[in-house]
Amino acid sequence: MSVSSTSTDPTPAESATTEPAASRVPTVVVGVGGGIAAYKACQLVRLFSELGFDVRVIPTESALHFIGAATFEALSGNPVHTGVFDDVPEVPHVRLGREADLVVVAPATADLLARAANGRADDLLTATLLTARCPVLFAPAMHTEMWEHPATVANVEVLRQRGNAVLEPASGRLTGADSGPGRLPEPAEIAEFARLLLEVPGALRRDLDGMRITVTAGGTREPLDPVRFLGNRSSGKQGYMLARVAAQRGADVTLISGYTADLHPPAAVDVVSVRTAAEMNDVVKAHSHGVDAIIMAAAVADFRPTTVSSAKIKKGSEDEPDRILLTRNDDILAGLVTDRRAGTIDAKTVIVGFAAETGDDHGGVLDHARDKLARKGCDLLVVNAVGEGKAFEMDDNAGWLLGSDGSERVLELGSKARMSAGVLDALADLLAKRPGL
Ligand code: CTP
Repeated sequence: MSVSSTSTDPTPAESATTEPAASRVPTVVVGVGGGIAAYKACQLVRLFSELGFDVRVIPTESALHFIGAATFEALSGNPVHTGVFDDVPEVPHVRLGREADLVVVAPATADLLARAANGRADDLLTATLLTARCPVLFAPAMHTEMWEHPATVANVEVLRQRGNAVLEPASGRLTGADSGPGRLPEPAEIAEFARLLLEVPGALRRDLDGMRITVTAGGTREPLDPVRFLGNRSSGKQGYMLARVAAQRGADVTLISGYTADLHPPAAVDVVSVRTAAEMNDVVKAHSHGVDAIIMAAAVADFRPTTVSSAKIKKGSEDEPDRILLTRNDDILAGLVTDRRAGTIDAKTVIVGFAAETGDDHGGVLDHARDKLARKGCDLLVVNAVGEGKAFEMDDNAGWLLGSDGSERVLELGSKARMSAGVLDALADLLAKRPGL
């Protein structure tokens, strides 16, 4: 990746690997518990295979009531066993755990979480969990009552304290007519977290427990008439990923979303949809009180058409404009900083901005970013170099993180999940250092 920058700009490690153990294909064990969500494990195994991972599936005996071993064998390209007495000469209960770079248990049922928390080894999956020394990711799925039961809450706590990542489930329709927290996060989302743990093993630690965070994402659309608008190319991927990772690190997250690519709502996040910059401003203001941090990852339109026609503008009509007049939108980020100075929002609220920059005749990406940080007055500025093939709509990102204390660090090229983890590391540090805490 080339970056428009001056020769003085440090460059995000352009050759940084996005895969762990670059010379070797990662081995990922997928443990499948006996719940109806086991059917989604098929999609997960397929995604892992498509990512090029060596995938070993270990279903429990009850998972096989939902999905046959042949399905997992076909999708993973590897044999599938459930018991410790299958294939004994190969000692699979020790070998599989030892060889794994990551174990993902999806769905993790209440029973499976209980057995794992108690260190049981009564089938191949739980035995593998005891021998694995790599990161372990549990993706729970169960009825809300079971998820909220003190026994499950305690088991999850034990597993987290031992360094395992236990995802917050999604809310929504469960088996039958009921709905609530307990749904398995989307396979694509679990795959993102898995990739993140392979890149950064501690990336889902619970260092944001109890924090309230507002995140904006996506682009706004400024209408010209009922069918036309001024918009931008933001996919929303970076903001959604920040919201996802923050929620899994324990934060209570509200995501204020403009228009995005076709993205799944993040598990365990409240999503509020907005259309225009003015609407986003109102909703951000309403979610800026009593929060610990506000992250402005949205691509907010700087201008809107000064007049909006209530009927479609027809070509050849008397109303056909030969130019569009624009009015400047309020700068939401700068407004938050002003509100904080004025005391209308809590002085301890950390404000994070984003800057999408290209270099030009007046300076490089970082020169513009440093100016922007000073102008906007936020605490952290995440800087992306944009242009053809960079940042917008891409799955990987690189950049810099500038602090109002003068700190500057490179965010290496990697997945947007990895970049999110880097931003949240810096945010967690700042939150921990806030005065009065
Ligand atoms: N932003 C905002 N309100 C606006 C425009 C931008 O809150 N009306 C926020 C964005 O969410 C981002 C940051 O400001 O966090 C920087 O956005 P960017 O578009 O890079 O900056 P601009 O202020 O628009 O500066 P310019 O386009 O002149 O570079």
